[in-house]
Amino acid sequence: MKTQVAIIGAGPSGLLLGQLLAHKGIATVILEAKSPDYVLSRIRAGVLEQGMTDLLREAGAGARMEREGHVHHGFALTFAGRQERIDISGPTGGRSVTVYGQTEVTRDLMDARTAEGGITIYDAQDVELHDLYTDKPSVTFVKDGEKITLECDYIAGCDGFHGVSRKSVPKEAIKTFERVYPFGWLGILSHVPPVSEELIYANHERGFALCSMRSATLSRYYVQCAVDEKIEDWSDERFWTELKSRLPEETAAKMVTGPSIEKSIAPLRSFVAEPMKFGQLFLVGDAAHIVPPTGAKGLNLAASDVSTLYHVLTKRYHDGRIDLLDQYSDIALRRIWKAERFSWWMTSILHKFSDDPFAQRMQLAELDYYTSSAAGRMTIAENYVGLPYEAVI
Ligand code: APR
Ligand code: PHB
Repeated sequence: MKTQVAIIGAGPSGLLLGQLLAHKGIATVILEAKSPDYVLSRIRAGVLEQGMTDLLREAGAGARMEREGHVHHGFALTFAGRQERIDISGPTGGRSVTVYGQTEVTRDLMDARTAEGGITIYDAQDVELHDLYTDKPSVTFVKDGEKITLECDYIAGCDGFHGVSRKSVPKEAIKTFERVYPFGWLGILSHVPPVSEELIYANHERGFALCSMRSATLSRYYVQCAVDEKIEDWSDERFWTELKSRLPEETAAKMVTGPSIEKSIAPLRSFVAEPMKFGQLFLVGDAAHIVPPTGAKGLNLAASDVSTLYHVLTKRYHDGRIDLLDQYSDIALRRIWKAERFSWWMTSILHKFSDDPFAQRMQLAELDYYTSSAAGRMTIAENYVGLPYEAVI
Protein backbone atom coordinates (compact mmCIF):
# COMPACT_ATOMS: atom_id res chain seq x y z
CA MET A 1 0.00 0.00 0.00
CA LYS A 2 1.23 3.50 -0.80
CA THR A 3 0.20 7.06 -0.03
CA GLN A 4 1.71 10.52 0.30
CA VAL A 5 0.90 11.24 3.95
CA ALA A 6 0.21 8.39 6.39
CA ILE A 7 -1.93 9.67 9.27
CA ILE A 8 -1.96 7.73 12.54
CA GLY A 9 -5.19 8.28 14.50
CA ALA A 10 -8.75 9.20 13.45
CA GLY A 11 -9.44 11.69 16.23
CA PRO A 12 -10.19 15.30 15.33
CA SER A 13 -6.52 16.01 14.43
CA GLY A 14 -6.11 13.13 11.98
CA LEU A 15 -9.53 13.55 10.38
CA LEU A 16 -9.22 17.32 9.96
CA LEU A 17 -5.73 17.05 8.46
CA GLY A 18 -6.91 14.29 6.11
CA GLN A 19 -9.83 16.39 4.84
CA LEU A 20 -7.81 19.55 4.32
CA LEU A 21 -5.04 17.72 2.44
CA ALA A 22 -7.57 15.84 0.31
CA HIS A 23 -8.99 19.17 -0.85
CA LYS A 24 -5.50 20.10 -2.06
CA GLY A 25 -5.11 16.87 -3.98
CA ILE A 26 -2.71 15.31 -1.45
CA ALA A 27 -3.34 11.61 -0.80
CA THR A 28 -3.66 10.30 2.76
CA VAL A 29 -4.46 7.02 4.49
CA ILE A 30 -5.64 7.18 8.10
CA LEU A 31 -4.85 4.25 10.43
CA GLU A 32 -7.02 4.09 13.57
CA ALA A 33 -6.61 1.51 16.35
CA LYS A 34 -10.28 1.59 17.42
CA SER A 35 -13.65 1.23 15.72
CA PRO A 36 -15.66 4.27 14.49
CA ASP A 37 -18.25 3.67 17.24
CA TYR A 38 -15.58 3.65 19.92
CA VAL A 39 -14.07 6.90 18.58
CA LEU A 40 -17.53 8.50 18.62
CA SER A 41 -18.33 7.31 22.13
CA ARG A 42 -15.72 9.59 23.71
CA ILE A 43 -17.23 12.69 25.30
CA ARG A 44 -14.77 15.55 25.23
CA ALA A 45 -14.86 19.35 25.32
CA GLY A 46 -17.05 21.49 23.14
CA VAL A 47 -15.85 25.07 22.72
CA LEU A 48 -14.43 25.90 19.29
CA GLU A 49 -12.31 28.94 18.52
CA GLN A 50 -12.98 30.83 15.30
CA GLY A 51 -9.74 29.49 13.78
CA MET A 52 -11.09 25.98 14.21
CA THR A 53 -14.56 26.74 12.83
CA ASP A 54 -12.93 28.36 9.78
CA LEU A 55 -10.84 25.21 9.23
CA LEU A 56 -13.89 22.95 9.54
CA ARG A 57 -15.64 24.98 6.85
CA GLU A 58 -12.55 24.80 4.64
CA ALA A 59 -12.48 21.04 5.20
CA GLY A 60 -16.06 20.81 3.91
CA ALA A 61 -17.34 19.69 7.31
CA GLY A 62 -18.84 22.88 8.72
CA ALA A 63 -22.49 22.75 7.61
CA ARG A 64 -24.04 21.06 10.66
CA MET A 65 -21.88 23.09 13.03
CA GLU A 66 -23.25 26.25 11.41
CA ARG A 67 -26.81 25.03 11.89
CA GLU A 68 -26.53 23.49 15.34
CA GLY A 69 -23.55 25.21 16.99
CA HIS A 70 -24.16 28.17 19.30
CA VAL A 71 -22.03 31.26 18.99
CA HIS A 72 -20.97 32.69 22.37
CA HIS A 73 -19.77 36.23 22.97
CA GLY A 74 -18.89 35.89 26.63
CA PHE A 75 -18.75 33.72 29.72
CA ALA A 76 -18.96 34.26 33.48
CA LEU A 77 -16.43 33.98 36.28
CA THR A 78 -17.86 33.57 39.78
CA PHE A 79 -15.83 34.06 42.96
CA ALA A 80 -16.31 35.45 46.47
CA GLY A 81 -20.09 35.56 45.94
CA ARG A 82 -19.70 37.69 42.79
CA GLN A 83 -20.48 36.90 39.18
CA GLU A 84 -18.52 38.79 36.51
CA ARG A 85 -19.34 38.47 32.83
CA ILE A 86 -16.32 38.49 30.54
CA ASP A 87 -17.16 39.96 27.15
CA ILE A 88 -14.94 38.10 24.70
CA SER A 89 -16.16 39.80 21.51
CA GLY A 90 -16.01 43.51 22.39
CA PRO A 91 -12.28 43.62 23.16
CA THR A 92 -11.33 41.30 20.24
CA GLY A 93 -12.90 43.07 17.28
CA GLY A 94 -15.98 40.86 17.31
CA ARG A 95 -14.41 37.42 17.61
CA SER A 96 -16.40 34.66 19.35
CA VAL A 97 -16.38 30.95 20.17
CA THR A 98 -18.83 28.26 19.07
CA VAL A 99 -20.26 25.68 21.44
CA TYR A 100 -20.38 22.43 19.47
CA GLY A 101 -19.25 19.08 20.89
CA GLN A 102 -16.00 17.45 19.85
CA THR A 103 -17.93 14.24 19.29
CA GLU A 104 -20.06 16.04 16.69
CA VAL A 105 -16.97 17.57 15.06
CA THR A 106 -15.52 14.07 14.77
CA ARG A 107 -18.75 12.66 13.32
CA ASP A 108 -18.95 15.44 10.70
CA LEU A 109 -15.32 14.91 9.68
CA MET A 110 -15.83 11.15 9.43
CA ASP A 111 -18.93 11.66 7.25
CA ALA A 112 -17.12 14.14 5.00
CA ARG A 113 -14.22 11.71 4.54
CA THR A 114 -16.54 8.83 3.73
CA ALA A 115 -18.53 10.97 1.25
CA GLU A 116 -15.33 11.92 -0.57
CA GLY A 117 -13.94 8.38 -0.66
CA GLY A 118 -10.98 8.97 1.68
CA ILE A 119 -9.40 5.82 3.09
CA THR A 120 -9.58 5.26 6.85
CA ILE A 121 -8.57 1.85 8.18
CA TYR A 122 -10.26 1.28 11.54
CA ASP A 123 -9.28 -1.48 13.99
CA ALA A 124 -5.68 -1.27 12.71
CA GLN A 125 -3.61 -3.19 15.27
CA ASP A 126 0.11 -3.12 16.13
CA VAL A 127 0.82 0.09 14.25
CA GLU A 128 4.60 0.58 13.94
CA LEU A 129 6.57 3.44 12.38
CA HIS A 130 9.74 2.69 10.38
CA ASP A 131 12.68 4.53 8.79
CA LEU A 132 11.62 7.97 10.03
CA TYR A 133 14.99 9.48 9.23
CA THR A 134 15.09 8.30 5.60
CA ASP A 135 13.17 9.50 2.54
CA LYS A 136 11.26 6.21 2.47
CA PRO A 137 9.42 5.99 5.80
CA SER A 138 6.66 3.45 6.24
CA VAL A 139 4.05 2.28 8.69
CA THR A 140 3.14 -1.34 9.29
CA PHE A 141 -0.07 -2.56 10.91
CA VAL A 142 -2.16 -5.69 11.28
CA LYS A 143 -5.67 -5.73 9.89
CA ASP A 144 -7.84 -8.85 10.20
CA GLY A 145 -4.76 -10.89 11.04
CA GLU A 146 -2.79 -9.72 8.00
CA LYS A 147 0.35 -7.57 8.32
CA ILE A 148 0.28 -4.65 5.87
CA THR A 149 2.97 -2.11 4.96
CA LEU A 150 1.99 1.44 4.10
CA GLU A 151 4.74 3.31 2.26
CA CYS A 152 4.60 7.09 2.37
CA ASP A 153 6.50 10.39 2.08
CA TYR A 154 5.53 11.70 5.52
CA ILE A 155 3.84 10.46 8.67
CA ALA A 156 1.47 12.62 10.75
CA GLY A 157 1.31 11.28 14.31
CA CYS A 158 -2.24 12.29 15.30
CA ASP A 159 -2.69 9.41 17.75
CA GLY A 160 -3.24 11.26 21.00
CA PHE A 161 -1.32 11.26 24.27
CA HIS A 162 -1.14 7.45 24.56
CA GLY A 163 -0.38 6.81 20.90
CA VAL A 164 2.57 5.04 19.33
CA SER A 165 4.03 7.95 17.31
CA ARG A 166 5.70 9.91 20.13
CA LYS A 167 6.99 6.65 21.60
CA SER A 168 8.66 5.75 18.28
CA VAL A 169 11.21 8.55 18.32
CA PRO A 170 14.70 8.14 19.78
CA LYS A 171 14.70 9.08 23.49
CA GLU A 172 17.63 11.46 23.08
CA ALA A 173 15.79 13.35 20.31
CA ILE A 174 12.82 14.43 22.45
CA LYS A 175 12.41 16.62 25.54
CA THR A 176 9.20 16.64 27.52
CA PHE A 177 7.76 19.14 30.01
CA GLU A 178 5.02 18.14 32.39
CA ARG A 179 2.86 19.23 35.30
CA VAL A 180 0.34 16.89 36.86
CA TYR A 181 -2.31 18.64 39.00
CA PRO A 182 -3.38 17.18 42.34
CA PHE A 183 -7.07 16.99 41.36
CA GLY A 184 -9.41 15.91 38.57
CA TRP A 185 -12.74 16.95 37.04
CA LEU A 186 -15.84 14.91 37.63
CA GLY A 187 -18.12 15.60 34.69
CA ILE A 188 -21.70 14.70 33.84
CA LEU A 189 -23.85 15.05 30.76
CA SER A 190 -27.58 15.42 31.39
CA HIS A 191 -30.68 16.07 29.27
CA VAL A 192 -31.61 19.25 31.12
CA PRO A 193 -31.60 22.86 29.90
CA PRO A 194 -28.34 24.68 30.79
CA VAL A 195 -28.57 26.86 33.90
CA SER A 196 -27.21 29.83 31.94
CA GLU A 197 -26.94 30.75 28.26
CA GLU A 198 -23.21 31.29 28.72
CA LEU A 199 -20.56 29.14 30.44
CA ILE A 200 -19.88 29.76 34.13
CA TYR A 201 -16.43 29.06 35.59
CA ALA A 202 -16.59 29.08 39.41
CA ASN A 203 -13.88 29.57 42.02
CA HIS A 204 -15.29 28.37 45.35
CA GLU A 205 -13.80 27.42 48.69
CA ARG A 206 -15.13 23.89 48.16
CA GLY A 207 -13.35 23.73 44.79
CA PHE A 208 -13.82 24.62 41.13
CA ALA A 209 -17.06 24.10 39.18
CA LEU A 210 -17.99 24.62 35.53
CA CYS A 211 -21.43 24.94 33.93
CA SER A 212 -21.24 24.18 30.23
CA MET A 213 -23.62 22.86 27.60
CA ARG A 214 -23.93 21.07 24.30
CA SER A 215 -27.36 22.47 23.26
CA ALA A 216 -30.51 24.12 24.65
CA THR A 217 -31.54 20.76 26.12
CA LEU A 218 -28.20 19.13 26.96
CA SER A 219 -25.96 20.31 29.79
CA ARG A 220 -22.37 19.47 30.66
CA TYR A 221 -21.34 20.18 34.27
CA TYR A 222 -18.11 19.59 36.16
CA VAL A 223 -16.86 19.77 39.74
CA GLN A 224 -13.25 19.58 40.88
CA CYS A 225 -12.62 16.30 42.74
CA ALA A 226 -9.70 14.34 44.17
CA VAL A 227 -7.72 12.37 41.55
CA ASP A 228 -8.33 9.09 43.33
CA GLU A 229 -12.08 9.68 43.72
CA LYS A 230 -14.26 6.68 42.81
CA ILE A 231 -17.03 7.33 40.33
CA GLU A 232 -19.31 4.84 42.19
CA ASP A 233 -19.22 7.15 45.20
CA TRP A 234 -20.84 9.91 43.17
CA SER A 235 -24.57 9.39 42.85
CA ASP A 236 -26.33 11.93 40.62
CA GLU A 237 -27.85 13.46 43.73
CA ARG A 238 -24.46 13.96 45.37
CA PHE A 239 -23.13 15.52 42.19
CA TRP A 240 -25.99 18.04 41.86
CA THR A 241 -25.76 18.99 45.55
CA GLU A 242 -22.01 19.55 45.29
CA LEU A 243 -22.32 21.53 42.04
CA LYS A 244 -25.01 23.82 43.46
CA SER A 245 -23.01 24.42 46.63
CA ARG A 246 -20.18 25.90 44.52
CA LEU A 247 -22.36 28.36 42.58
CA PRO A 248 -23.92 31.71 43.52
CA GLU A 249 -27.30 31.20 45.22
CA GLU A 250 -29.47 32.60 42.40
CA THR A 251 -27.73 30.34 39.89
CA ALA A 252 -28.09 27.26 42.09
CA ALA A 253 -31.76 28.07 42.68
CA LYS A 254 -32.63 28.00 38.99
CA MET A 255 -30.63 24.89 38.12
CA VAL A 256 -32.71 22.10 36.56
CA THR A 257 -31.38 18.69 37.56
CA GLY A 258 -32.00 15.26 36.07
CA PRO A 259 -30.41 11.85 35.55
CA SER A 260 -26.89 11.79 34.14
CA ILE A 261 -26.36 10.06 30.80
CA GLU A 262 -22.58 10.06 31.17
CA LYS A 263 -20.35 10.49 34.19
CA SER A 264 -16.57 10.34 34.24
CA ILE A 265 -13.48 11.63 36.02
CA ALA A 266 -10.64 13.22 34.05
CA PRO A 267 -7.20 13.96 35.49
CA LEU A 268 -5.62 17.35 34.76
CA ARG A 269 -2.23 17.60 33.14
CA SER A 270 -0.02 20.06 31.27
CA PHE A 271 2.44 18.37 28.89
CA VAL A 272 4.56 19.46 25.93
CA ALA A 273 6.98 17.44 23.80
CA GLU A 274 9.73 19.25 21.88
CA PRO A 275 10.41 19.22 19.01
CA MET A 276 7.36 18.09 17.03
CA LYS A 277 9.21 16.87 13.92
CA PHE A 278 11.50 13.83 13.84
CA GLY A 279 12.81 13.09 10.35
CA GLN A 280 9.66 12.58 8.27
CA LEU A 281 7.35 12.28 11.30
CA PHE A 282 5.27 15.23 12.51
CA LEU A 283 3.47 15.08 15.85
CA VAL A 284 0.06 16.78 15.90
CA GLY A 285 -2.47 17.53 18.68
CA ASP A 286 -2.61 15.48 21.87
CA ALA A 287 0.30 13.31 20.62
CA ALA A 288 2.55 16.30 21.34
CA HIS A 289 0.79 18.25 24.07
CA ILE A 290 -1.91 18.18 26.71
CA VAL A 291 -3.54 21.12 28.48
CA PRO A 292 -5.82 21.00 31.50
CA PRO A 293 -9.40 21.58 30.23
CA THR A 294 -9.83 24.95 31.99
CA GLY A 295 -10.21 27.34 29.06
CA ALA A 296 -11.07 24.61 26.53
CA LYS A 297 -7.85 24.80 24.55
CA GLY A 298 -7.08 21.08 23.86
CA LEU A 299 -9.09 20.61 20.70
CA ASN A 300 -8.32 24.14 19.49
CA LEU A 301 -4.58 23.59 19.82
CA ALA A 302 -4.91 20.41 17.80
CA ALA A 303 -6.62 22.53 15.12
CA SER A 304 -3.81 25.10 15.03
CA ASP A 305 -1.19 22.33 14.67
CA VAL A 306 -3.26 20.87 11.83
CA SER A 307 -3.48 24.28 10.15
CA THR A 308 0.29 24.73 10.31
CA LEU A 309 1.09 21.24 9.01
CA TYR A 310 -1.57 21.51 6.30
CA HIS A 311 0.01 24.71 4.97
CA VAL A 312 3.54 23.31 5.27
CA LEU A 313 2.63 20.15 3.34
CA THR A 314 0.56 21.97 0.73
CA LYS A 315 3.49 24.28 -0.02
CA ARG A 316 5.82 21.27 -0.07
CA TYR A 317 3.72 19.39 -2.66
CA HIS A 318 2.50 22.35 -4.73
CA ASP A 319 5.53 24.63 -4.69
CA GLY A 320 8.41 22.30 -3.74
CA ARG A 321 9.02 24.27 -0.50
CA ILE A 322 10.96 21.63 1.45
CA ASP A 323 12.49 24.39 3.60
CA LEU A 324 9.16 24.86 5.42
CA LEU A 325 9.10 21.29 6.74
CA ASP A 326 11.70 22.19 9.36
CA GLN A 327 9.69 25.22 10.48
CA TYR A 328 6.60 23.24 11.53
CA SER A 329 7.82 22.54 15.02
CA ASP A 330 8.86 26.10 15.90
CA ILE A 331 5.70 27.67 14.46
CA ALA A 332 3.42 25.19 16.25
CA LEU A 333 5.28 25.37 19.57
CA ARG A 334 5.13 29.17 19.79
CA ARG A 335 1.33 29.03 19.89
CA ILE A 336 1.23 25.87 22.01
CA TRP A 337 3.27 27.39 24.83
CA LYS A 338 1.01 30.43 24.95
CA ALA A 339 -2.08 28.23 25.16
CA GLU A 340 -0.32 26.10 27.80
CA ARG A 341 0.25 29.30 29.76
CA PHE A 342 -3.39 30.38 29.54
CA SER A 343 -4.73 26.92 30.51
CA TRP A 344 -2.29 26.69 33.40
CA TRP A 345 -3.22 30.20 34.56
CA MET A 346 -6.98 29.59 34.36
CA THR A 347 -6.41 26.34 36.28
CA SER A 348 -4.30 28.11 38.93
CA ILE A 349 -6.77 30.90 39.67
CA LEU A 350 -9.92 28.79 39.70
CA HIS A 351 -9.07 25.54 41.55
CA LYS A 352 -8.58 24.76 45.19
CA PHE A 353 -4.97 23.60 45.58
CA SER A 354 -4.79 23.54 49.40
CA ASP A 355 -6.32 24.97 52.56
CA ASP A 356 -3.71 27.74 52.61
CA PRO A 357 -5.71 30.95 53.25
CA PHE A 358 -2.99 33.14 51.74
CA ALA A 359 -3.11 31.21 48.46
CA GLN A 360 -6.90 31.54 48.42
CA ARG A 361 -6.72 35.31 48.95
CA MET A 362 -4.16 35.56 46.13
CA GLN A 363 -6.59 33.81 43.76
CA LEU A 364 -9.40 36.17 44.74
CA ALA A 365 -7.15 39.21 44.35
CA GLU A 366 -6.13 37.98 40.91
CA LEU A 367 -9.75 37.43 39.87
CA ASP A 368 -10.76 40.82 41.28
CA TYR A 369 -7.85 42.55 39.54
CA TYR A 370 -8.35 40.93 36.13
CA THR A 371 -12.10 41.47 36.08
CA SER A 372 -11.92 45.10 37.20
CA SER A 373 -9.19 46.16 34.75
CA ALA A 374 -9.78 46.76 31.04
CA ALA A 375 -6.31 45.32 30.35
CA GLY A 376 -7.12 42.24 32.44
CA ARG A 377 -10.42 41.65 30.64
CA MET A 378 -8.70 42.12 27.29
CA THR A 379 -6.05 39.55 28.23
CA ILE A 380 -8.67 36.97 29.18
CA ALA A 381 -10.79 37.70 26.10
CA GLU A 382 -7.99 37.48 23.51
CA ASN A 383 -6.75 34.20 24.94
CA TYR A 384 -10.22 32.68 25.30
CA VAL A 385 -11.22 33.41 21.68
CA GLY A 386 -7.84 32.04 20.61
CA LEU A 387 -4.55 33.72 19.73
CA PRO A 388 -3.95 34.23 16.00
CA TYR A 389 -2.49 31.48 13.82
CA GLU A 390 1.00 32.25 12.59
CA ALA A 391 1.24 32.42 8.80
CA VAL A 392 3.33 29.79 7.01
CA ILE A 393 5.28 31.79 4.41
N1 APR B 1 -2.56 3.32 16.36
C1 APR B 1 -3.60 3.93 15.70
N2 APR B 1 -4.42 4.82 16.28
C2 APR B 1 -4.17 5.12 17.57
C3 APR B 1 -3.10 4.56 18.29
C4 APR B 1 -2.29 3.61 17.63
N3 APR B 1 -1.26 3.02 18.27
N4 APR B 1 -3.12 5.06 19.55
C5 APR B 1 -4.14 5.92 19.60
N5 APR B 1 -4.79 5.98 18.42
C6 APR B 1 -5.99 6.77 18.06
C7 APR B 1 -6.99 6.86 19.20
O1 APR B 1 -7.83 5.72 19.25
C8 APR B 1 -7.74 8.13 18.84
O2 APR B 1 -8.87 7.88 18.04
O3 APR B 1 -5.63 8.12 17.83
C9 APR B 1 -6.73 8.96 18.06
C10 APR B 1 -6.28 10.18 18.83
O4 APR B 1 -7.36 11.06 19.03
P1 APR B 1 -7.43 12.10 20.23
O5 APR B 1 -6.94 11.48 21.48
O6 APR B 1 -8.79 12.67 20.23
O7 APR B 1 -6.35 13.21 19.85
P2 APR B 1 -6.42 14.38 18.76
O8 APR B 1 -7.01 13.92 17.47
O9 APR B 1 -5.07 15.01 18.75
O10 APR B 1 -7.52 15.35 19.32
C11 APR B 1 -7.30 16.53 20.00
O11 APR B 1 -7.39 17.52 22.10
O12 APR B 1 -7.56 18.01 24.29
C12 APR B 1 -7.95 17.24 23.35
O13 APR B 1 -10.23 16.63 23.80
C13 APR B 1 -9.30 17.02 22.91
O14 APR B 1 -9.21 14.75 22.19
C14 APR B 1 -9.03 16.05 21.78
C15 APR B 1 -7.67 16.39 21.40
C1 PHB C 1 -17.12 21.35 28.04
O1 PHB C 1 -18.21 21.80 27.64
O2 PHB C 1 -16.92 20.13 28.12
C2 PHB C 1 -16.05 22.30 28.46
C3 PHB C 1 -16.25 23.66 28.28
C4 PHB C 1 -15.27 24.56 28.66
C5 PHB C 1 -14.11 24.10 29.23
C6 PHB C 1 -13.89 22.73 29.40
C7 PHB C 1 -14.88 21.83 29.00
O3 PHB C 1 -13.16 24.98 29.63
